[in-house]
Amino acid sequence: MKKIATATSQRAAQPELPGVAALDRSRGRSALSPKRPTEDTSGLADVFPYYAGFSYDWARSLVASQQLPAGAVVLDPWNGSGTTTLAAQHEGYEAIGVDRNPVANIVARLRLSSYEQSPCLTSPATVPKSGTSAKDDPLAAWFDQKSISRIREWANHLPSLPSGEASLSYVALFRTVRALTRSFEGSNPTWVKRAKSEGELISIGASDFDSAISCEQEFLASRIRESPAVAKGKFQLATANSSALPLPAESIDLVLTSPPYLTRIDYAVAYTRELALLGVDISKDRSLRSALMGTTLIRGDAPIDFEMGSIAQSLISEISSHASKASSGYYRKQAVQYLRDLLQGLDEVTRVAKRGGLLHLVVQDSYYKDVPVRLADMCIEEAVLRGWTFSGSDPYPVRRTLTSLNKAARKYKKSEVAETVVTLCKA
Ligand SMILES: C[S@@+](CC[C@H](N)C(=O)[O-])C[C@H]1O[C@@H](n2cnc3c(N)ncnc32)[C@H](O)[C@@H]1O
Repeated sequence: MKKIATATSQRAAQPELPGVAALDRSRGRSALSPKRPTEDTSGLADVFPYYAGFSYDWARSLVASQQLPAGAVVLDPWNGSGTTTLAAQHEGYEAIGVDRNPVANIVARLRLSSYEQSPCLTSPATVPKSGTSAKDDPLAAWFDQKSISRIREWANHLPSLPSGEASLSYVALFRTVRALTRSFEGSNPTWVKRAKSEGELISIGASDFDSAISCEQEFLASRIRESPAVAKGKFQLATANSSALPLPAESIDLVLTSPPYLTRIDYAVAYTRELALLGVDISKDRSLRSALMGTTLIRGDAPIDFEMGSIAQSLISEISSHASKASSGYYRKQAVQYLRDLLQGLDEVTRVAKRGGLLHLVVQDSYYKDVPVRLADMCIEEAVLRGWTFSGSDPYPVRRTLTSLNKAARKYKKSEVAETVVTLCKA
């Protein structure tokens, strides 16, 4: 067993339509980049390291530049840690965020609720000791039974979700468990190892765990106290699928979002530890992992029972005919599944957007082996096929990608890839 004595707190030639003029104004390329700086604290971005979030300052300046009418509603159907919804709320608009990952919504709720919190922290003395733990607890992938017992006592004692107060408590718990299990992280930030033997399990005493979580609560509370009071709009967060948005037709003025890319990121694996704290064991229950867009799990035979534009079609045929192993099998299926999710999400965004509504998509191109995945051009083509008018795209170069981290993928020749902000208006 690894003995932990003290836990430390750290830290992308259409006719002119109504709305296009406003959209052109809004597209003026900002000096800011959608890419989140490594050490970003604006918009409480540092409260939890949610993968692939974009920059709050960029999102807020984009929302502010749109000249939306009073009472406008802003949607992010792949909301992640809530950057779009926070930016919209701070600009005084109604914000709606949808994400299938419950962990994302807890983090987003903490960021969005901060103005109404004078944080109320849980004192360790009030967390009763039961001394019981279950052998099949999902936390057993990283912790011994004694440690799990104290972690569960805390989890069972926290205020009920969803509320801002509960979100703070849960994010403190997420941060504590992340800090304690850092040795299970590798160079790929979205992959978490599990202990291979009992000797690798983390062992932490109750009082050390209590101190560690108290430290994390204090950190979050201080970040909330420091965050300036700003104008606020209403917000709603839903744990739902972007391919079936729980929203009425033609109800949204602006969509600002970044869908998962075709880069084989498994969001459920990236948050295995937080999901374990919520009682979800993704190694046994595959439903969440399988539902998430971009998942590496294949749901079925991946039939092409949906329509797609020419860029998506050629991508599928280039992947299928690639000489490398499993290209015509597993990898083709995974790409078809990804495209189905992306296109269903675009169908839904088209359904819920008002006529004249705006859509900003942040998307990153990538490679399958040496085959370019032109996600930005594909999204433009698919959106135009659904009746959107293309206004423009602003590319920002990306230096470090997940493909550059993968040794096996480095043998294929690739050019630089870009993250592109694609802007469209619904006709
Ligand atoms: C690129 S991240 C968005 C990051 C966000 N812009 C931010 O600043 O935090 C994509 C998000 O899509 C979510 N997602 C994946 N599949 C989904 C689905 N089928 N329905 C809704 N959300 C999904 C993931 O959980 C992830 O949070």
